[in-house]
Amino acid sequence: MENTQKQIILTGDRPTGRLHLGHYVGSLKRRVELQNSGLYDEINILIADDQALTDNVDDPQKIRSNIVNVILDYLSVGLDPEKVTFCVQSALPALHSLTFYYMNLVTTARLSRNPTVKAEIQMRGFADEGLPAGFFSYPVSQAADITAFDANIVPVGEDQLPMIEQTREIVEKFNRIYGETLVLPKAVIPDNEMQRRLPGVDGKAKMSKSLGNCIYLSDTPKTVKTQVNGKMFTDPTHLRIEDPGHTEGNVVFTYLDALCCDDHFAEYLPQYANLDEMKEHYRKGGLGDGVCKKFLIQVLEETLTPIRTERQKWEKDIDTVYDILMAGTLKAQERTNKTLARVQKAMKINYFEDRSVIKEWKKLLTNK
Ligand code: TRP
Repeated sequence: MENTQKQIILTGDRPTGRLHLGHYVGSLKRRVELQNSGLYDEINILIADDQALTDNVDDPQKIRSNIVNVILDYLSVGLDPEKVTFCVQSALPALHSLTFYYMNLVTTARLSRNPTVKAEIQMRGFADEGLPAGFFSYPVSQAADITAFDANIVPVGEDQLPMIEQTREIVEKFNRIYGETLVLPKAVIPDNEMQRRLPGVDGKAKMSKSLGNCIYLSDTPKTVKTQVNGKMFTDPTHLRIEDPGHTEGNVVFTYLDALCCDDHFAEYLPQYANLDEMKEHYRKGGLGDGVCKKFLIQVLEETLTPIRTERQKWEKDIDTVYDILMAGTLKAQERTNKTLARVQKAMKINYFEDRSVIKEWKKLLTNK
C-alpha cells in the first residue's frame, strides 16, 4: 500500500465552543510538540462541524460561530499553518461518501455498544426524546475522517478510544472484503494521568461550558482570577492555615501537577524547590489556600499570556485566518478525494474513472 510507511496524523475537534485549559493540557500542547518534533510527514487537524451538527441540529449558528473560535485557539497555542493542515469537515464531500460505504460494515448492535456514544446518549437526553440516526452513527463518520487522510496516528483523549477501536474494525473488515486499501490507525492518548482529564475549577470531573467551571484559553486575567479565587475547589477540611491539608482531589494541586515546573518556584515561590516540597508543607499544615491560589494564578498566567497575545494578533487579521482555513481545506479536499477514488476502485464502483468498464460490459454481453 502506498502510504503505509508514512507517518500521518489526523485529529480534530467539534466546534461547539471556545477551547479551554482542559483541551490545552489534554491535547493542544501535545499537538504542538508533535508538530515541532519534525517526526511526522503530515499533520491534519479537522474542525468536525458535521459531527457537531449531529447533536446540535437546531443550532447551526452555534457551530458556524465557533469555527472561528476554534481556529483562533489552534493558531494561538502555536499550531503553525506551515506545518499543519487545518480543514473543515463539511467541505470535504469524500468523507460523506466514505461514511455511507462504511455504514454497511458496521452493525447497529455494534454501534449500540460504543461506550462513549452510550454515555452521550444519556447526557443529551436522546434516550427519552428519540435517537437521531446521524448521531448514533457518528463513529462511522469519524472512521471516514481518519481513513480519508490515511492516518496511522490519531492523538485523542481517552474518551475517544472507542472511536478508534471502531475505526480499526471497519478498516480490517474493509480490507478483508475489498483487498488492502485502508490504513489501520492507532490512537495515542496522553501518558500522564493529570493530562487525561483536567477537572473543572469546581472539582467536577470535566470542564464543561454548561457547568461554568472552565478556564478558557481566551479568558482575561480578571476572569482567570475570579475562577480560581472565587470558584476553585480546595480541601473543605483545611479550615485554618495551621490545619493539615489534603492535596489529593484539591483542584489547586491538580492544576499545579498539570502545569507547573521547578522554574515557576524559583520565580514566584522560592521557599520551595518544587511541587513536592510545597505539597508536603500543605499536608503538614501551615500553608494557606490563599498563597497556593496566588501561585497557581501566576503559573496559569505564564501559560495563558503568550496564548492571549497570539490570539490578539490573529483576531486583528481574520482575513488571513480565513485564507489559512480555506487553503488547508482545499488541500484536504484533494487528499481525501484521492482516498475516495482508491476506495471506490476497490469496491468496483469506479465506472467513470476511465472508460475501461465499456470493454468489460461488451465482453460480458458477447459471452452470453
Ligand atoms: N469526536 C472528536 C471529539 O469529540 C472529534 C473528532 C471528529 C475527531 N473527527 C475526528 C478526533 C477524527 C480524532 C479524529 O473530540
